[in-house]
Amino acid sequence: MNCNQQDSTEHTSIGNLLRETAHHIDTVLPDYLPTPDGPGAHLIEAMTHSLQGGKRLRPLVVMQAAATFGLPAEKVTPTACGFELLHTGTLIHDDLPAIDNSALRRGQPSCHTAFDEPTALLAGDGLIIAAYGALTRQAAVPGVDAQAVLRVISEFSAYTGAAGLIGGEAADIYGEAREPNADLLEYIHLNKTAKLFVAAARAGAILSAADEQDIHLISDYATQMGLLFQVTDDILDISGDQAALGKPVGADQTATKQTYPALLGLGGARQYAEELAAQAKDLAQQLPSNQHFWQGLIDVIANRRS
Ligand code: IPE
Ligand code: IPE
Ligand code: MG
Ligand code: MG
Ligand code: MG
Repeated sequence: MNCNQQDSTEHTSIGNLLRETAHHIDTVLPDYLPTPDGPGAHLIEAMTHSLQGGKRLRPLVVMQAAATFGLPAEKVTPTACGFELLHTGTLIHDDLPAIDNSALRRGQPSCHTAFDEPTALLAGDGLIIAAYGALTRQAAVPGVDAQAVLRVISEFSAYTGAAGLIGGEAADIYGEAREPNADLLEYIHLNKTAKLFVAAARAGAILSAADEQDIHLISDYATQMGLLFQVTDDILDISGDQAALGKPVGADQTATKQTYPALLGLGGARQYAEELAAQAKDLAQQLPSNQHFWQGLIDVIANRRS
């Protein structure tokens, strides 16, 4: 792939960059899994099954955040893979009957549907643990400071754990039995979705030795972007097409989830998404480079069909 440019959009459209990054991640991800072997081979096969077909947006954010602050995007490949491994592990768990009970993911049977529940539970565990292995391999890349790698791993744990993504998933389930509530919904979206994008953007910036002010700025951008990503997900659950999405539509209403369409109606949710997009674009404008990419990414997310 060729995603090392300082301002990638000078040389290639954002669509090409998305495709090139996804192809690169698809190619290298198997290096971070054990070889399927022995009585646990089906577990690795389940992990491999679920890794297929994602958009690879979190790796894209890690890689382009690095490029924004001067480190070639490919240098942060191990960290980018770490984010995708954990993300996929949380999707497997999210789809389990005990959580969202979803039979379809990434256009194919979800992990517990293709295999079985115990295997899916363990495959999710396996991917989340493999993520930490990938993150540590970042330290072997020449030109990357080991202290920066440690900080990324520490932040990854904080942003994805019980006070982050996993806490957001818990709040999402808690919210199913309650009336739509703005504070609860903001907590859910910030934690279950936005914080992983924030950690991804920060990881790229930290590995690139960005200064603290710039790390703060790209965190603010990724917060708005992550919130936009999830409100768009809620909207697509109502107005999207299952074939394009690769996952069921209408599931949120059936499960009486806290969503912006449930709180504000579809029109209100779309207006909220427009406000988030405008705020994110304004923050992108303040970044020291790659502004076109970060602004274009907001349009991609706001207009996505999958
Ligand atoms: C799905 O994320 C989970 C949410 C946070 C809504 P994506 O829409 O990025 O899923 P993949 O990785 O492309 O399958
Ligand atoms: C949860 O959000 C995403 C995770 C943090 C795992 P959703 O439950 O809305 O994600 P989808 O719609 O199943 O992809
Ligand atoms: Mg869920
Ligand atoms: Mg779900
Ligand atoms: Mg959803």
